[in-house]
Amino acid sequence: MLSQEEKAKQETSFRKLHHLEICLKEKVQSHETTKIEDFHLVHRAICDLDFDEIDTSLVLWGKKLQLPLVAAAMTGGHPDVRKINENVAIAAQKYGFAMGVGSQRAALEKNMPYITESFEVVRQLAPDVLLIANLGAAQFGKKWNYREEQIEKAINLIKAQAIAIHVNPGQEVIQIEGDTYFQGFWQRLNGIAEKIKVPIILKEVGSGFSREDAQKVENSPLSGIDIGGLGGTSWIGVETLRLEKETSSLNYEMGNLFWDWGIPTAISLVETRSVTNKTLIATGGIRNGMQAAKMIALGADIAGMALPFLEAAAQGLEELDILVKKFQKELKITMFLTGCKNLEELRSIPVVVSGYSKDWMEQRGIDLSMPWRKKI
Ligand SMILES: Cc1cc2nc3c(=O)[nH]c(=O)nc-3n(C[C@H](O)[C@H](O)[C@H](O)COP(=O)(O)O)c2cc1C
Repeated sequence: MLSQEEKAKQETSFRKLHHLEICLKEKVQSHETTKIEDFHLVHRAICDLDFDEIDTSLVLWGKKLQLPLVAAAMTGGHPDVRKINENVAIAAQKYGFAMGVGSQRAALEKNMPYITESFEVVRQLAPDVLLIANLGAAQFGKKWNYREEQIEKAINLIKAQAIAIHVNPGQEVIQIEGDTYFQGFWQRLNGIAEKIKVPIILKEVGSGFSREDAQKVENSPLSGIDIGGLGGTSWIGVETLRLEKETSSLNYEMGNLFWDWGIPTAISLVETRSVTNKTLIATGGIRNGMQAAKMIALGADIAGMALPFLEAAAQGLEELDILVKKFQKELKITMFLTGCKNLEELRSIPVVVSGYSKDWMEQRGIDLSMPWRKKI
């Protein structure tokens, strides 16, 4: 007989597969937007630029990126998802954007070659790419007891430049077999962070980061935040759809109630950047290069997308080419029309705030002129 713990370990890689299938087949996005539509960049008619010379490159954690973009953490851990990782890795190497892998928990706990290979292949196909490893915060609580050893294994498996620890209390509390024991993780992670050679960031998966939590990161040895805000894939939604199939009616009802829980990505970015100068990745509902440009103007170092990469990678390399080329052009057009020849200039242009986001910022006492955007 398998213990509860063994069962949970076995289920991890199959659950990841189920998640992926749901994301590809069902409507998994939040009904709320990122609120990026409330942030307006000012058009510049006197354009003194050569479009072809607009520079979208930057250096992050010692690696040069051609685009301020990361294919956000999604997958690995099951043979059926290996192709997704392979395709995204090939595109990342070709176009010079960063890539995060999905939770590596299954690889650490099961030690099966087919699982570890689905991650290792990413580094093989993307030798020059900034890669971000991934583990869950709940695993650092007292129940699972992860320590430096697990972080180092996850990093070494893909020779990552950084590691993201995902904080996903909304997802876990709706997931029927979710890990809701987070207690102690923050203290332990802080204790570990200084011993790890690469940057550690915290990452939400669709409910965003508040100014209060960003302040905690600012005062900690952690290196940054992937804000994973509301407005894109809802992980509470994905778990709700899983429950629908399993007819667990009470959690299903609660999943629907909390489907759109969280802080919209653009607002979350403003909240976090107003109190920290650490690296910020804006993920959650970014769907084109213009939205990414706005996020950078609001103070993000780079933007991230998950669902669009999943959908394109499932179709093949040609779809990924289209996705990335389109993103690149939309970003450059936005820079062209705002008179910015590089990303540094994009971070200092005026941004006008309206509507819901203006109300939010006023109530939260966040300076509407956003003087801290340039700090990066
Ligand atoms: C299929 C899929 C699997 C994901 N798995 C992970 C994961 O293992 N770890 C993690 O930190 N985030 C995971 N995410 C969350 C994304 O990295 C991202 O934060 C979220 O989906 C919001 O971005 P989007 O709106 O562009 O999809 C996953 C997303 C998708 C679509």
